[in-house]
Amino acid sequence: MCGIVGYVGNEACANILLDGLARLEYRGYDSAGTAIMESGKTGILRAEGKLLNLRKRVDEAKPAGTVGIGHTRWATHGRPSEVNAHPHKYGRVTVVHNGIIENHAELRAELESNGHEFASETDTEIVAHLIDDELRGGKESEDAFRAALKRVRGAYALCVLVDGLDDTIYAARHDAPLILGLSDEANYVASDIPAILSRTRDMVFLEEHDMAVVRRDKVVVKDLEGNEVERETKKILWDAMMAEKGGHKHFMLKEIHEQPRAVTDTIGDRLSPKDADAYIDGFEADPGKIRKLVMVACGTSWHSALVGKFLIEQLARIPVEVDLGSEYRYRDPIVGDSDLILAVSQSGETADTLAALREGRRKGARVLSIVNVVGSTIARESDGVLYTHAGPEIGVASTKAFTTQLVAMVLLGIHLGRRTGTLDHEQAHELITDLMRIPEQMVEVLDHSATINVIARRYATARDFLYLGRGINYPIALEGALKLKEISYIHAEGYPAGEMKHGPIALIDEHMPVVVITPRGSGYEKIVSNLSEVRAREGKVIAIASRGDPDIHDVVDDVIQIPDVRPELQPLLTVLPLQILAYRIADIRGTDVDQPRNLAKSVTVE
Ligand code: AGP
Repeated sequence: MCGIVGYVGNEACANILLDGLARLEYRGYDSAGTAIMESGKTGILRAEGKLLNLRKRVDEAKPAGTVGIGHTRWATHGRPSEVNAHPHKYGRVTVVHNGIIENHAELRAELESNGHEFASETDTEIVAHLIDDELRGGKESEDAFRAALKRVRGAYALCVLVDGLDDTIYAARHDAPLILGLSDEANYVASDIPAILSRTRDMVFLEEHDMAVVRRDKVVVKDLEGNEVERETKKILWDAMMAEKGGHKHFMLKEIHEQPRAVTDTIGDRLSPKDADAYIDGFEADPGKIRKLVMVACGTSWHSALVGKFLIEQLARIPVEVDLGSEYRYRDPIVGDSDLILAVSQSGETADTLAALREGRRKGARVLSIVNVVGSTIARESDGVLYTHAGPEIGVASTKAFTTQLVAMVLLGIHLGRRTGTLDHEQAHELITDLMRIPEQMVEVLDHSATINVIARRYATARDFLYLGRGINYPIALEGALKLKEISYIHAEGYPAGEMKHGPIALIDEHMPVVVITPRGSGYEKIVSNLSEVRAREGKVIAIASRGDPDIHDVVDDVIQIPDVRPELQPLLTVLPLQILAYRIADIRGTDVDQPRNLAKSVTVE
């Protein structure tokens, strides 16, 4: 997620803005900028890369203004560059923005047809044009701001400066956090507590569709109709480190809880229930001409590719191969110009996955990638990119990137299935309706995770774990095992449940916890019979089961319940308890959860 800082007071604010942005660096960014008002005009300074580059620009320019806004950008629309960095200015209006404006394309087309010219590829710049249009139409600045807000759809946290108003910041939020900081000497705006915690502990958390007029001696919060609304001032007692993690002990836990938001952002405006369709921005291929899809990935991304195979073969009936990035190029793969490579990667920089992509391209295949980092190497070497919008993932153990990759696979399955004709309107509409409910069901699972804490304490000293799953949940067994082993250092293996009798059952005894993913659906009876084999050998069984399952309690030792959803969407929910279980066990064992030993967030070496 991007970072926002705003200041209106009596001090020269350049360094206040830069210091605030520095406290948001942990969120990840690829460019940064400031806009500072001097003598009624806003001067903009921006730089690609680290804040150091921006600080050099500011030190050279020495802006003395006492009103300003700053921004660190995590690219979603438009690659990382100075011209795409915020702030964006058009006419008298300067804006910084967090979130995604979903109707940016139609608004841009409308504005361009009215003669507007855009300097950047971003969705954000639209807001400056909309407000400036309203000002030119005669509206006062506050009314112009509100009128523009009513035009945009999607998530926004916004700060706006208007030339000539040298003591006012306009702020607004919808579906992206924005905070006001209050003090006797100055007032602040920020996207997150750490940015301004060193300046004040008195904060106001804007609510959905709030807007605010922030002046050096007064802050007023209003709704979009211009009615003043009361918002409580809260005293924040966190220390700086706690603040960076949103009050969570680790980034990983924060990111586990960000998944409903990340899934919502990744769905974005890509689903059309009315048309019963999914749109893959930036990718055109005739599915009828795809002989096979070859997915290449590593680690957690390989697990999402394994789920993707189930989804795309079921929804679109296109053959899918899945291969480890580190293996693919060494097997002289049979691939050519009628095949499509799908590279899956959170970082977009994993060397093994990049090498596999290049091998497929060398043999003539086209490349689509599912990537979380705009402008990353894998993204740049693909013919099309389906971006996940998970925001920066700081914890080395991947969580929200994984579930947003699963969403991307569902979107791709719907897109392809509707074009190969294997998914009719009604089937697609039902799946889309169910997918749009997933974020709220994820919240339900995450809010009822207390049982997991008890289970974690019971098994935190185990030396080995076995994770079992069938069908589309077999890759989730692999993912659950990987989460546990990489952050708690306990040995854990994921296995297809049907494979137990072909060897692993020899491992079972009273010291071996077995986690079984056994939601309602096909294979349920078979899995339950697998469980009895485990229990007959004193194995301890922890089941991830559908809420309301009347039978499961009799055949296992512990049950973690999830809402009952259709099989295609089960992985989005079954993985959550496994992420939390791994996190709780690691936290009990005192390992470095966010930076586990020997691991890197992005493996850029082969
Ligand atoms: C996942 O928790 C691990 N950190 C690791 O397996 C990771 O998924 C793998 O290195 C692939 O990274 P990528 O998605 O950035 O390509």
